[in-house]
Amino acid sequence: MAKKHELSSTNGNLPKHVAIIMDGNGRWAKKKSLPRIAGHRAGVKALQKIVNFSAKEGIKVLTVYAFSSENWKRPRTEVSMLMELFTTSLQQRFKELHHNNVRLRFIGDLSSFPEKLRQSMTDTEHLTTNNTGLKLVVAVNYGGRWDITNAFKALHKKISDEVMAADDISEDLIGEFMCLSDLPEPDLFIRTGGEKRISNYLLWQLAYTELYFDDCLWPDFDTASLETALQWYAGRERRFGRTSEQIEHA
Ligand code: IPE
Ligand code: IPE
Ligand code: MG
Repeated sequence: MAKKHELSSTNGNLPKHVAIIMDGNGRWAKKKSLPRIAGHRAGVKALQKIVNFSAKEGIKVLTVYAFSSENWKRPRTEVSMLMELFTTSLQQRFKELHHNNVRLRFIGDLSSFPEKLRQSMTDTEHLTTNNTGLKLVVAVNYGGRWDITNAFKALHKKISDEVMAADDISEDLIGEFMCLSDLPEPDLFIRTGGEKRISNYLLWQLAYTELYFDDCLWPDFDTASLETALQWYAGRERRFGRTSEQIEHA
């Protein structure tokens, strides 16, 4: 079968959770003398292929950064075109996602989005809630610092309502109040577009994630590029603070 052949060099060592910063849409468009929005549209197409491939290969969770809390600082026209693109893409791509048994979730501060878009997001979450395949998490108006701040606010409320005591605070407890706390932590982080930074993505959740950077611009990132990243991941030794010898004898 093609699937076995394609990923044979990962020795079955697939990440459960892959987190991606899909960067480089604007530069891709510029290189082709197209408007930036054309790059974002091509980016949606690239995402659909990566989602289908991940679902087929048995990756459990894919979390993608579609719009950061800082992206509001972009020119107003780009922001409003992006909002339009999110809405139409959800409408157009929903059927295929649902057909592929994908379960959708959005993380981030959705309250700042236009009502129509927010409604589409919650509708698709509800409609796919019983799907048992790939969990696709889309981070929109998300920021790692926003996530941590929210966790602190929620914890503070529990303590002031006397549901919890300050002494109960632990790393595990803080983690429970963060986005994605019900899912395995990201095993593999991929950033396309050549920048080597986290840009306020999953700051808490990436503590022990393997970091992979690809110079290719997001619209050009295809299943072969993902396969290369997965092969690189399969060769990593994840020590979580232990020594190599301890890992070998575990
Ligand atoms: C990522 O591509 C998509 C979003 C941030 C919405 P960019 O738009 O950042 O593309 P570059 O980095 O300018 O090429
Ligand atoms: C990160 O890309 C956010 C998304 C891909 C959605 P940016 O292009 O916004 O990141 P910076 O500004 O280069 O760090
Ligand atoms: Mg960018």
